[in-house]
Amino acid sequence: MIITVAAFKGGVGKSTTALHLATYFQNQADTLLIDGDLNRIALDWSNRGSLPFKVADEQQGVSLARLYEHIVIDTPARPDPDELKTLAKGCDLLVIPTTPDAIALAATLQIVDLLRNLKVKYKILLTIIPPHPNKAGEEARTTLLNAGLPVFKSGIRRLAVFQRAALEGVPVNLVKDAYSQIAWRCYTEVGKEILP
Ligand SMILES: Nc1ncnc2c1ncn2[C@@H]1O[C@H](COP(=O)(O)OP(=O)(O)O)[C@@H](O)[C@H]1O
Ligand SMILES: [Mg+2]
Repeated sequence: MIITVAAFKGGVGKSTTALHLATYFQNQADTLLIDGDLNRIALDWSNRGSLPFKVADEQQGVSLARLYEHIVIDTPARPDPDELKTLAKGCDLLVIPTTPDAIALAATLQIVDLLRNLKVKYKILLTIIPPHPNKAGEEARTTLLNAGLPVFKSGIRRLAVFQRAALEGVPVNLVKDAYSQIAWRCYTEVGKEILP
């Protein structure tokens, strides 16, 4: 399965999502994460700590791809529309992370608009959702659902342990922190929605 993670906005958790979905898929079969982000976040992580799956840049990725059962592709912020269309057409599922704020939601609607005429399967993932009693997450979900868009049932909570994971160069389930399993469960629930 090829899963691409893309958004028009930076800082919405694309790389975090790609990395944790790759961790989830690796538990099922050999998984390759292709780091198409110019900031090379995932490659950085794998150099800093140890990631449980293979990471490659796009050039290596082309020759490695056939060796892996699952491929997750992380993409740069602000792809131009043509770039996005190419990325979207080449995958089985496009995951579009969005934070629940108005600017990110507007960027998400823009992407969805571009995809409208392509036969692309996509699903929107709410990320960095602020904790209760803040209702931004639920409100954003309602907005997206009312617009008739596909949204993952599970969302990703805003938890500081995700930043610790990035610093340590490991997926969140390997961080020694009271919240690591709660954070990890956010992504395993999403993984199950993709590939139970
Ligand atoms: N669920 C979350 N809770 C808290 N911080 C998060 C979460 N997801 C991502 N972050 C942090 O937000 C920042 C942007 O995330 P990143 O995955 O790099 O986004 P993008 O790839 O879209 O630019 C990073 O510092 C990351 O550690
Ligand atoms: Mg990124």
